[in-house]
Order: sequence, then structure tokens, then C-alpha cells
Amino acid sequence: MDSYQHLYIDGQWTLPIKGGSFASTDPSDETLLARVPAATAEDVDLAVRAARRAFDEGPWPRMSGAERGKVLRAIATGIRQRLPQLAELEVRDNGKPLPEAEWDLGDAAGCFEFYAGLAEAADAQPRQDIALADERFSSWVEREPVGVVGAIIPWNFPLLMAAWKVAPALAAGCCIVLKPSELTSLTALELAAIVHEAGVPAGVFNLVTGLGPDAGAPLTEHPLVDKLAFTGSVPTGRRVMQAASREIKNLSLELGGKSPFIVFADSDVEAAVEWIMFGIFWNQGQVCSATSRVLVQRELYPALLERLVAETQKIRIGNGLEEGVLLGPLVSRGQYDKVLAAIDSGRSSGARLLHGGERPVGLDKGYYLTPAIFADVPTDSDIWREEIFGPVVCLRAFDDEAEALRLANDSPFGLAAAVMSRDLPRAERVAKGLRAGIVWINCSQPTFTEAPWGGYKQSGIGRELGQWGFDSYREVKQVTRYDSDQPWGWYIK
Ligand code: NAI
Ligand code: MG
Repeated sequence: MDSYQHLYIDGQWTLPIKGGSFASTDPSDETLLARVPAATAEDVDLAVRAARRAFDEGPWPRMSGAERGKVLRAIATGIRQRLPQLAELEVRDNGKPLPEAEWDLGDAAGCFEFYAGLAEAADAQPRQDIALADERFSSWVEREPVGVVGAIIPWNFPLLMAAWKVAPALAAGCCIVLKPSELTSLTALELAAIVHEAGVPAGVFNLVTGLGPDAGAPLTEHPLVDKLAFTGSVPTGRRVMQAASREIKNLSLELGGKSPFIVFADSDVEAAVEWIMFGIFWNQGQVCSATSRVLVQRELYPALLERLVAETQKIRIGNGLEEGVLLGPLVSRGQYDKVLAAIDSGRSSGARLLHGGERPVGLDKGYYLTPAIFADVPTDSDIWREEIFGPVVCLRAFDDEAEALRLANDSPFGLAAAVMSRDLPRAERVAKGLRAGIVWINCSQPTFTEAPWGGYKQSGIGRELGQWGFDSYREVKQVTRYDSDQPWGWYIK
């Protein structure tokens, strides 16, 4: 068992004031993986005050983008140098297959490099001139860091979700307090060590591991925090938004989804099956953008179901560290029970369970589940409407484009959507009609640091990644100068 004892606050490794800790479990065998320090409101207060001081008085927000970029590149190098150990730790803490953990960590390092580049590029554009209709004035916009950021992240992509928030916040010149998920804190603790070695000044990055109500809530309620950046469930997102309302904190939310995938009959069935499987089974389906509702044009529906079941049966399930495993265990007992309950409700919904939804034979310990395929799913059932966050796919047939779009958009969520067709004008027309922040054509899930990420409707507010993610950590300041030597004329005529 590993033991982590310290939080990282104001550039120092510090014991939690109340001395508590909690367990992190290895989901592959339900054993105790590590004990993790439990921060409480007192620790969060110290971390926020350190970030506040670093922002108000320290060098970080006042440095050039090039100087900050250099430090971010050192963090990326630190991640790459420890990639094998970090990837193994991520698998043991989260359960995901090793190759997926390696992707995550490569992407996390790439995220720090990308935002290093944006920080450097920002030096060349210190202001953006605005053409005013009134020529007596000059006006321009300057960008400034938002301030102290409270970032709260989930367990499905532990280090990558940290990178999506820490990299753009630091690049913009913000100071940050990060609260990882209590289910997967270990790589965040390693990240703190990497950040320290990279030479990030004291107070600029702070890490408080702890439970949602004990450490997350105080961070959202702290008056010295300027911005909250949250990824997780809709109910917790709602609480974060409520907490933000008191001081009208800047807010970005990336919440759940129930993303549709429309497959037209002219699609290649093998390609469709692979993207459907990847779209809902990768990372055990614990993906906010997972394409969990699949709409298949009626002519292709029977053949596609048959091929989908045949390919899904071949998926190797097991410990994510084993070679060739495509599906590891779900992250926790709580998530496992939630997904099993959803499958039970699916069984009694009138849908046809074609495959899976059970503990695999021979895997008696660990949160393992055979991937579930439900066909003919009623549109008013819970499994069609609610986020399950597990390897459970729901399929239905549709007749024409209008029906597909109507079914796809009939959801309170709007994170992602996908459409497959050889008729590209049609695919692009459907993409326009989908009410979602991310639309994939002829694929599902590929995610790029350069492109904006976020949802419509209850899937959230704001965008991460790309220039959009950078700007979400920057205030817009208008500066306007009166250039005329004539009186303004309010009372001097
Ligand atoms: P959650 O939304 O409760 O947890 C996410 C983060 O929020 C964690 O760091 C947690 O400690 C923190 N948190 C919890 N309560 C808080 C509070 N009162 N104030 C501030 N922070 C708080 O999600 P959970 O319970 O881990 O998963 C439940 C469901 O949420 C999943 O089954 C899935 O449907 C959804 N989910 C969606 C994610 C996404 O990427 N959109 C990621 C994780 C979960
Ligand atoms: Mg764990």
C-alpha cells in the first residue's frame, strides 16, 4: 500500500490540519491501494489564501507569457519522464486499460505544451485595437488573468482533467487550488511534485485532496476565489453554481451527457460498429461525451445489431494492466451499483437486452461488468434519458433524417453527438441540426487539445481547450482614451 500524507499548499507539503485520511481502492480487486490525506475547510482556506497572495503580490501573473510558457513546458517534460509510472498508477487507481492511461498522460503533457504556446503567443498581442465609430477616441482590449481559480475534477480521466484546467489557468497567469476526485487522487499528488520541480512559484498551484462535501464545497464557497471550474455530475454542478452565485464568481461547468449517434443506412457497417463500440465502451463507458444513444436507420438496423453483438462478445475484460484488455473494472463500488441498477431498470423497460450487463465469468472480485447492449429502447425509459456512465449502449431504429434529429435532440443534455453517412452534405446538414457543443462526423470521441470542448443545455457552461479554454481564464478589459483637445461638451459649449 502506498501512503500519501501531505497536501501541497503554498509551495510546501503540509499535513492536513485535522489529520484525517481516506482510502483509495484498486477497483480491479477491491483492495486498499493507498491512503490519501483528507483536507477540510481549514486546509482549503490556507490554500486559497496562498493562491490569493501569489496572485495579488507574487511574480506569476506579472511574468511574460514566455516565462510562464517555459515553466509549463517543464511540467510537460516532468509528466513525459514519469509517464510509465504515472500510467500504471492511473490504472491501479481508476481501473482503465493501460494503453488508454498512456493516451491520457500523453494528452496531459501535450495540453501543458499547447498552453505554453498560447502563453508565448499572447506576448505578441498585448492589446487588440477596436475601431470605434467615434474617431475622437482610441480603444483597445487587454486580456488579464481572472485571478484565483478553484478547480474541482472527476475520476474518469484523473490527470487529464487536471491538465485541462491547470494548464490554461497557469498559462493565463491565474493561481489555482485543485481538488481531485476522492476516488482518484494519486496522479494529482504526483502532479504536485512535478509542478514543484518545474519551478512554479509558491502559492501558484495548490492541491487539496479530500471529499466533496469536506474539501470541494468549502472551495466553492470561499469568498477569495474568483473563478470556479468544475467537471462532474449535474447535481453537484448545480451546487457549484449556487455557491458561485454569492460573489458572482466566474464559472465554467462541464457536466454530463446522453449523447446521440445517428447512423444512416449508407454507412459501412464495420466502421459503424467500431465507432459505436469505441463511443460507448472505451474507459468502461465512464465518459461524459460517450455516445450512449445510438439511432440506426431501419434498413441497416438488424445487420448492425448482429455485428455489434458479435464484436462486443469478443471484448477482453480484465485488469487494465493485462495485455490485450479492452475493458477494465468500473471505478468504484458506488459506480458499479449505479450501473447495475440502470441495467435492471433497462430489463424492465421493455427494451431487449441483447448482450451483457452481468459480472463476467471467472472475475469474482473487482467491479467488472460485461458490456450491455439494449435494442428497441423506449424513448421514455430511464436508460434512454438518463446518464448511466458505464458500458451500456441503447439502440433504436429510425426511418428518416427528420425523425433522427428529433430523437437525437430530445434530451436535457447537449454535450456531444455523432453522425455517420457516406453522404457528406447530409452528414453536415445533420451536424448543423444537432443541439450539442461537439459533433463528430463519421467517428465518435476523438478529442483534440486545439478544439473547443463543452456542452449546450444541462451539459454545462463555457468551453475548455483550445483558445476558448485559455480565454475562459482571462478577463476582457476595455481601455478607451479620449484623443481630442476639444471639450467634451457636457457643460462647456
Ligand atoms: P460528482 O459530480 O459528485 O463529483 C465530481 C467532483 O465533485 C469530485 O471531485 C467530488 O469530490 C466533487 N464534489 C462532490 N460533492 C461536492 C460538493 N458538494 N461541492 C463541491 N465539490 C463536490 O460525481 P460522482 O459522484 O463522482 O459521480 C456521479 C455521477 O456523475 C456519475 O455516475 C456520472 O453520471 C457523473 N459524472 C460525470 C462526469 C463528467 O465528466 N461529466 C465525471 C464524473 C461523474
Ligand atoms: Mg481508486
